Amino acid sequence: MQPFALERYFSKYEFSTKHILSASDCESLTMQELLSMADEESQSLWNSLKLSYTETLGHPLLLTEIAKLYRAIPPSQVLVAAPEELIFMAMQSLLSKGDHVIVTTPAYQSLHEIATSIGCLVDRWELHPTVDGWTLNLQFLADHVTDKTKLILVNFPHNPTGHHISSEEQRDIIQIARKHNVPLFSDEMYRGAEYRTADRLPPFADEYERGISLWGLSKSFALPGLRIGWLVSKNADFLAKCSRLRDYLTICNSAPGEILGLIALRQREQILQRTRTIIVKNLDIASKFFARHSEFFSWLKPKAGSVAFPILRKNTPIEEFCRNLIERSSLLITPGSLFQYPGNHFRIGIGRIDFPESLAILEASL
Ligand SMILES: Cc1ncc(COP(=O)(O)O)c(C=O)c1O
Repeated sequence: MQPFALERYFSKYEFSTKHILSASDCESLTMQELLSMADEESQSLWNSLKLSYTETLGHPLLLTEIAKLYRAIPPSQVLVAAPEELIFMAMQSLLSKGDHVIVTTPAYQSLHEIATSIGCLVDRWELHPTVDGWTLNLQFLADHVTDKTKLILVNFPHNPTGHHISSEEQRDIIQIARKHNVPLFSDEMYRGAEYRTADRLPPFADEYERGISLWGLSKSFALPGLRIGWLVSKNADFLAKCSRLRDYLTICNSAPGEILGLIALRQREQILQRTRTIIVKNLDIASKFFARHSEFFSWLKPKAGSVAFPILRKNTPIEEFCRNLIERSSLLITPGSLFQYPGNHFRIGIGRIDFPESLAILEASL
């Protein structure tokens, strides 16, 4: 497997750079903020929590709470683990050498890298920049999916572009997958971070019988440090395969993470509203900034989620631009080349409360 370029970059700079303008997560809640939201039952679970091993699939109360996020998923069709671990287990369970896979790109690297490392034939379904933002050509999917295709992978709201699809596009994607009876893995990590709740799509796992949905607490729930995510699927064999793999990975979730996750899920509306408020405010600031500096950047307005992928309109290569910002201003933005995407794109994150200050540093450096 190739090194995970984005994670290596963050590992090097995230904790040594003062201003982070590129985080994909949203302003993390503090322990105190989260505990102050606990209802009576979860507070009591927290107070009496024994730091033992936990159940392989996840705490039963947590599974019940997660199932409520879906229209047609019972707790028995949920598997809880760290989001990135779930991607790894899902790909290892679903794919074999020679399988054909289609994946939206640019992408969070594990969505294509694990398939590539297994020896799959990976077709990249590219999003394209236009003057109005990003577009996805559904005809590409219709033209490339065949009876040999073993998996379609999508990710909306999308990292790194902030693109989002409409419910009509979602319906059309499902129709194409269904026609060929292909499983569809939908990375919905940025669900809940739509700018308008009306833009929130139903999870693919609810809409498509072969749909697998991934969500978790790392982005819109503002709790990446808990390392809690979940996969939902109507395919019991698939979930069982993932669980068997898990015995060689984390075995089970951290006991505190599960109870803190339960507290968060029970207060989901409050937490998601907080995230939306931060993002919408930052989006407005970002739109004005990019309008002021259109000679430097093309904004490519995002539609949902906590990231955007504008273009630097200068001859300076984006890696050099980013390196200069780190060295001279201690400001972290991510070059688009880490997503193996051509052009001078870079990723910014709009989920942090210090976004205006970080953006002001970028402005001063121009
Ligand atoms: C699209 C996408 N999927 C999955 C993940 C993995 O989430 P986590 O880092 O919480 O494991 C990320 C993290 O950035 C992501 O952007």
